[in-house]
Amino acid sequence: RTRIFSGVQPTGHLTLGNYLGAVRRWAEEDQHRAEALFCVVDLHALTVEHDPARVRRLSRQAATLLLASGLDPELCTVFVQSHVAEHLRLSYLMECTASDGEMRRMIQYKEKAAAQQARGGSVRLSLLTYPALMAADILAYGTHEVPVGEDQAQHVELTRDLAERFNQRYGATFVVPRTTLPAVAARVMDLQEPTSKMGKSHARTAGVISLLDEPEVVRKKVLRAVTDAERDVVYDPQQRPGVANLLNVLAACTGGDPEQLAGEYDSYGALKKDVAEAVVETLRPVRERHAELAADPSYVDGVLRRGAERARALARPRVDAAFEAVGLLPAG
Ligand code: TYM
Repeated sequence: RTRIFSGVQPTGHLTLGNYLGAVRRWAEEDQHRAEALFCVVDLHALTVEHDPARVRRLSRQAATLLLASGLDPELCTVFVQSHVAEHLRLSYLMECTASDGEMRRMIQYKEKAAAQQARGGSVRLSLLTYPALMAADILAYGTHEVPVGEDQAQHVELTRDLAERFNQRYGATFVVPRTTLPAVAARVMDLQEPTSKMGKSHARTAGVISLLDEPEVVRKKVLRAVTDAERDVVYDPQQRPGVANLLNVLAACTGGDPEQLAGEYDSYGALKKDVAEAVVETLRPVRERHAELAADPSYVDGVLRRGAERARALARPRVDAAFEAVGLLPAG
């Protein structure tokens, strides 16, 4: 059976970008057609300065939001990365497989390291080695497909390289995974700054729609979205990124095609009104289910406990095999 793995970092509130780029597909398609694992990657959240209490809170919240988005623990495995030690064990072998240069070429590293330095902070070594841990997340499960947004495609490419290199050096151990991207909204942009992606850790939240934003807040953010000086509605992501982003979001929420939708509007005002309502309706069931689930944290904790057990059982044999393959003496 096809195996699918993907994850989300608990570094902020999940955004519309996370939902349209990744999570919605996990719920609507992936969990139904494959053996799927979805992970709250809390270890990754430690690669930048963090508040322990906040990471803990956001981890449970992310798990709750995954379930609220429709992930069904009867169909797929939902768990927290740090509960399954195999990720850390395999991460070290991935650090022994990757080169320093290929880590430094990662766009996310360059951007986050620059941001960290601009604020006068130092860059944690784990920020550089992040893709080794991400490769371990994926490879530990014999994953065939990794459903992500466009910003993670480079990391999955590196994961493929590492899997091939490891297999070549030590014998066939890992499945070489491939990225799957959504048809539209693979890269949802910030509403205030439509040339950069909508990210959950952005300090300014006016351009970021959180899955838990009240409908009124969603409407306000969409109506204030930056467009451009032209007046007609055309789909041109290069020249008109703000309008293109709104059309992409509308297409993703309503199942339409962004170029075709552009032809149906003759003003930004009308477009924004429809985008706002489409987003509100798309997020409504998620917010409602989240409110129910958040009232019973012991249910979510139970799901995560069973998820971790299942994940551990799946990962352990392959990680043990990798340890042996590189020449480590079996513990016996
Ligand atoms: P993270 O937490 O930044 O994002 C989770 C998922 O949401 C997608 N995404 C977006 N898609 C479209 N538009 C956006 N603006 C947008 N923002 C985020 C991401 O592409 C991702 O699919 N490194 C990963 C987490 C991770 C992981 C893994 C993913 C760790 N290990 C193994 C897959 C497999 C990350 O930071 O995602």
